Amino acid sequence: MRVRKAVIPAAGLGTRMLPITKSMPKEMLPIVDKPVIHYVVKEAIEAGIDDILIITGKGKRAIEDYFDRSFELEYYLREKGKLEELKQVEEIGEMVDIYYVRQKKPLGLGDAVLHAEKHVNGEPFAVLLGDDIIISQKPAIKQLIDVAEREKSQVIGVEKVPEELVGRYGIISGEKIGEDVYMVRDLVEKPSPKEAPSNIAVVGRYVLFPEVFDFIRELPPGKGGEIQLTDALRNMLPSYPTLAKMIEGRRYDVGTRLGFIMANVELGLEREDIGEELLTRLKQLVREV
Ligand code: G1P
Repeated sequence: MRVRKAVIPAAGLGTRMLPITKSMPKEMLPIVDKPVIHYVVKEAIEAGIDDILIITGKGKRAIEDYFDRSFELEYYLREKGKLEELKQVEEIGEMVDIYYVRQKKPLGLGDAVLHAEKHVNGEPFAVLLGDDIIISQKPAIKQLIDVAEREKSQVIGVEKVPEELVGRYGIISGEKIGEDVYMVRDLVEKPSPKEAPSNIAVVGRYVLFPEVFDFIRELPPGKGGEIQLTDALRNMLPSYPTLAKMIEGRRYDVGTRLGFIMANVELGLEREDIGEELLTRLKQLVREV
């Protein structure tokens, strides 16, 4: 079993980040000087993926333009001798083969993933959600792919979250069967703290079998009236034993205001060009409050 393809659902309306997402895809929000989706695509490429399908929706054209070549801009930068910028822009246009398909109605994550069925064409595939940026030595999705290929199993990326936050995530319960690996026993989408079987949350990275599409197709609307990927994975458990891998790395939920700002601050601090100055200014600010 080899995982070669990745699916990045980017059709969501971004209601948690309104009003900016009224006219701008949430995936294009900048983290320092690159859009969120750039980090996600890069994670997939660094994990050895060479074929990416992005599920887009209404108002998401900026994503396609970002990954496309921009000959006018490249010509302009070359003329002006801005060679460093030129290199960056050219590299983005040549990153990897990216394909697009549009979800016409916002029916939920499960339905978005179902749009990948033809492209995936019967192979196991990775799913990366753009709301989570994960900074780690080994790309987060690669951590899952290694377990999936070794165990020939579906794998869900997880992380422990504070109990008061369980209602924001898919939550699993399971038995630990190895270092950082669990056998999933149950899976609930956004439970109340009382219903939650644990505080182990699904963090937007999955390696899935193509059979998942059959299970999605049969789903009635779930939490929030949407077709939930979590529900399909839960229904698969009896016939497809599924593992969860605790992801090593720093995760930012950039789909929330605080996560978005923290990602900018922390990744800004790591930048050679602005890190030192940013730290000085932050220290000043902290002293003042
Ligand atoms: C989705 C999934 C949820 C998962 C979360 C991770 O929810 O449905 O199970 O925990 O992504 O970010 P969303 O954040 O799209 O509401």
